[in-house]
Amino acid sequence: MSLKNILVALAAMGATVVASPAKSKRAAAYDGNPFEGVAMYVNPYYRDEIHDLALPQMTGSLAEKAKQVAEIPSFQWLSARPTTPVPTPYAGLFVIYNFPDRDCSAKASDGELHLDDNGLERYQTEYIDPIAELVKEYDDIRTIFVYEPDGLANLVTNLEDSQPKCQGAAEAYHLSTVYAMETLNFDNVALYVDGGHAGWLGWPGNLNLTAEVFGNAFKEAGKPKSVRGVATNVSNYNAVLQRDRAPAYTDPNPNWDESRFHEALAPFLEEHEFPAHFIVDTGRSGVQPAGRESWGNWCNIKETGFGIRPSSNTPTELLDAFVWVKPGGESDGTSDEEAVRYDTMCSSNSSVIPAPEAGDWFQDYFEMLINNANPLQGLLQKQGQEVC
Ligand code: BGC
Repeated sequence: MSLKNILVALAAMGATVVASPAKSKRAAAYDGNPFEGVAMYVNPYYRDEIHDLALPQMTGSLAEKAKQVAEIPSFQWLSARPTTPVPTPYAGLFVIYNFPDRDCSAKASDGELHLDDNGLERYQTEYIDPIAELVKEYDDIRTIFVYEPDGLANLVTNLEDSQPKCQGAAEAYHLSTVYAMETLNFDNVALYVDGGHAGWLGWPGNLNLTAEVFGNAFKEAGKPKSVRGVATNVSNYNAVLQRDRAPAYTDPNPNWDESRFHEALAPFLEEHEFPAHFIVDTGRSGVQPAGRESWGNWCNIKETGFGIRPSSNTPTELLDAFVWVKPGGESDGTSDEEAVRYDTMCSSNSSVIPAPEAGDWFQDYFEMLINNANPLQGLLQKQGQEVC
């Protein structure tokens, strides 16, 4: 099923998508926090994975819990051009993830578009344009995008000589971002640019440059209204708030969790005129500090669990929502040393192995996430109320 079919199905449900007194073409427009007044969609692709791939291998209370996970809203990744069949009827939350020469500092998620094969133009005309057409056509649906996980973060820290693929891709990532921001600027769209995580762009020395890279693209695109802010911790494992003390591996970063990172980055974003609003991926942050040896480990990290559930009930003005972006149970990368996209990070001591290709179903990992689930991990309080 194509992306169009997904949006047709969403449109059919438009009246329930937005809490609007009357269903109208303008119903999906918003002011302020785009997560308020809308139900986050359950990602049917993920639900199907759980029902078709996971449940046949599970029994008893574990299976019951898996069925509950299948009903938790999460993002759907558009990891290839939308003409590629996407076997799902609808989803309201999407990840744009198809930069030419994608995943330039790692290997596990190299994508379908490459700069030596007209990748920049194809990204624009074969990927972003069709998405924009659909968003325009179905403007009674509010569509929330996470934009290009790790993409711009690679322009902040990975342009040294040891990273030639990132050097080569830098201009294309920037131009792609400007193009996407301009082209997806509709009243019913909210776009959060991926900003890495506390252990990457959260180091004090990276904050200003991050804001500059984001601000430059935003200004060049004409400051589109639909650009809402920054998504952090996507596919990562950090706490939102680590109350007591920092995990040893974060030393000496004073911004050792995502809320500290947001607070530290916000003034720099404001200075560079980029909107300082955040969402944070809590899908796999249920155990802290989880089983990783160093903060740089990112692939299928051991000893963690599902974290805080998606919600726009957050403790701070800066944070629009807790979200589940990486579908828990899909692999970060293969541990097979013979595979073309093998990255050594995926067989590190911090990783669960053996692991399948990035994006493929990883049953052992899914079961671990259920067994260690902790929806209250690092939960902040708002006016004396627990966030649930
Ligand atoms: C993979 C994508 C996948 C996504 C979500 C990425 O690491 O490269 O193919 O859709 O993770 O699991």
